[in-house]
This record gives sequence, structure tokens and C-alpha cells, in this order.
Amino acid sequence: MAIAQHKLGSGFGAHSTAGDVLTGHDMSGKNVLITGGYSGLGLEATRALARAGAHVIVPARRPGVASEALAGIPGTEVRELDLADPGSIRAFAETFLETGRTLDILIGNAGVMAYPDTLVGPGWEAHLAINHLGHYVLVNHLRPALLMPDARVVSVASSGHFLSDIRWDDPHFRHGYDHWLAYGQSKTANALFAVHLNTLGVRAFAVHPGSILTPLQRRIPHAQQIAQGWISSDGQHADGFKTPAQGAATAVWAATSPLLDSYGGAYCQDCDLAEPATTDDMLIGGVKPWALDPGSAARLWTLSAELTGLDTFSGRLPVDS
Ligand SMILES: NC(=O)c1ccc[n+]([C@@H]2O[C@H](COP(=O)([O-])OP(=O)(O)OC[C@H]3O[C@@H](n4cnc5c(N)ncnc54)[C@H](OP(=O)(O)O)[C@@H]3O)[C@@H](O)[C@H]2O)c1
Repeated sequence: MAIAQHKLGSGFGAHSTAGDVLTGHDMSGKNVLITGGYSGLGLEATRALARAGAHVIVPARRPGVASEALAGIPGTEVRELDLADPGSIRAFAETFLETGRTLDILIGNAGVMAYPDTLVGPGWEAHLAINHLGHYVLVNHLRPALLMPDARVVSVASSGHFLSDIRWDDPHFRHGYDHWLAYGQSKTANALFAVHLNTLGVRAFAVHPGSILTPLQRRIPHAQQIAQGWISSDGQHADGFKTPAQGAATAVWAATSPLLDSYGGAYCQDCDLAEPATTDDMLIGGVKPWALDPGSAARLWTLSAELTGLDTFSGRLPVDS
């Protein structure tokens, strides 16, 4: 599974939608899990994959809201899961594994941005906990369902990774909190997670979806969004932004494209492999070297195993097993 960061010429691009990239794909009989698959980009990915015939399992922090959002989309299933709570993730995974089903695709999409300084669980910074550690725990528990040669894991990262490498000396921001740096660190972690998971035998990719107005921005005051050029004063999205269906396309492409059959661990953008970043402009994107570094990816895996007490890939099980 080669890691390469050069365009493959997928025939799709920034304007392609999740539906476009699935044209001609029959997903019947495929089991897909999408965290947060009931809001924003996740909802569009769920919609497109279910329309193509997949059965989509949507673990949800708010199952009632999820069921309402997915009503009318056949082939979807809502289960309770809170990525901030390892016990809830384990309970979800145990119930899922008891059904004997396998997973063809897992899209780690759920995430938070611009949280106030919050520690969850045993003292984990909230972005790192929800965006990265929650998905680390989920994939570790679901390992038996992912051990098929064609299974893929897609980790929804962001060009927000430009903002911060992993803060090895202070990952939980106990010495000065900044919500953008915290988001940035967690998105670098999403990319590194794919790099290392791929070396452990589960084909994995990270993606930057683009810039899209969704409930993700709910904690950013309207005036600040205008000042940052994200929206106009009448609430319309700025040039260079995608629609949610376009924003879901790269994750769906990474999960399904036959072009990626001999690749893994790579970072994708606009329905293709991303090029190395040549600028700090997050709208242009690309991938920074620290988000692909195999040594950092292995170190983050070790840190995640230490923090969670779990690494099923090396036989380390939860302490009370
Ligand atoms: N939108 C963009 O411009 C953009 C750009 C780059 C990357 N991304 C990434 O794309 C992904 C999806 O974002 P989005 O824009 O679609 O945002 P969104 O509409 O806010 O969706 C995020 C989803 O994550 C779920 N979630 C939050 N906390 C959770 C928890 N503790 N446990 C389980 N689920 C939880 C949310 O559930 P609730 O609704 O119940 O809270 C929601 O379903 C995120 O990883 C984000 O970082 C987005």
C-alpha cells in the first residue's frame, strides 16, 4: 500500500458531489459506518451511499435527532454513541460485533470545532478527544469487523491541520488554550491516524472535504464569520466554498474509488490525492509534511494507546477485559 501525494487524475474535482463519484457504483450488500452521518457532510455521505444501495450505520451522540434527519432515507440504521465517552464507544462496538456483521467502509467523520477550553473523560482536551481519540477507540474496538482485505477507513481531517502539529509536550493545552490550535492539532491527528492504521493492515485515507458552511461553525459568532470572509452579510457562503454534497464527495471517493486500490495512508482533497502544500492558504489546501510523517504517526498511535489503555492491534485490551 504505497503512500503517494500526487494527483492521479480521478476525473472528479472540487465541484463533484458525493452522488457524482458514486455514479455506476452498486453498493448493494456493503456495510458502511459513518460517525456523525446525520448532519452536514456526514448526512450527504449517508444519503449518497444509501442511494447507491449500501446499508449505512450511523452512530449518533443524539439518536433522536439522527433518526429524524435520516427518516425517509432507506437502508440507514441509527445507534447511540458518544465519541467523548470511551464506555459508550465500547458498548456500541460490542453490540455491533454481536450481530456478526463486517464493515466494508468506516468513515470517521464526526467532529467539533472551536470548543471552549473543555476537558472530557480522564482529562483529555475536547477536540483531541472527540475528533481523534474517540475514532481511535472506535476503530480499535471494531478491528474484528474491519479485517477484510477490501475494507477501508476514511478519516475526515481538514486543512485546519495547517494550524498545528501534535503538541507532544502539552497535547491537552494545560499551558495556554487556543481553540484554533486545538482544532488544528486534532486534524493533524486525523491525518496521522490514517498513516499509521494503514501500516497496521487496514487500508486508510485521510481527507480534507473543502470549506463548507455546516453546523460545524455553530460556535463562531456570525460577525466573525463575516470578518473571516466565510459568509457575506446576507449569510451566503463565500467564493471557494463548497455545498455539503460537494463537501462529502472526497470522503466517499476515498472510500470507494478503485483508483486507490493500491494506495493507502494518503491524504486526499477534491476527489484525488492531495499535493504537498506550497502555501499557508487553507482554502488552497494541500498537505503539510507533519501530517504525513510516519514517525509521528507511530508516536501518536503509542500516545493514543497510553491515554486510552487500548491497542487491539498489538493485543492490548481495556484494563477490565
Ligand atoms: N464544514 C467544513 O468546512 C469542514 C472543513 C474541513 C473539515 N471538516 C470536517 O468534516 C467533519 C464533518 O463536519 P461537518 O461540517 O459536517 O459538521 P457538523 O454538521 O457539525 O457534523 C458533525 C457531526 O459530528 C457529531 N459529533 C459531535 N460531537 C460528537 C460526539 N461527542 N460524539 C459523536 N458525534 C459527535 C455531530 O453530532 P451532534 O450534531 O449531535 O453534535 C454531527 O453529527 C468534521 O470532522 C470536520 O472537522 C469540515
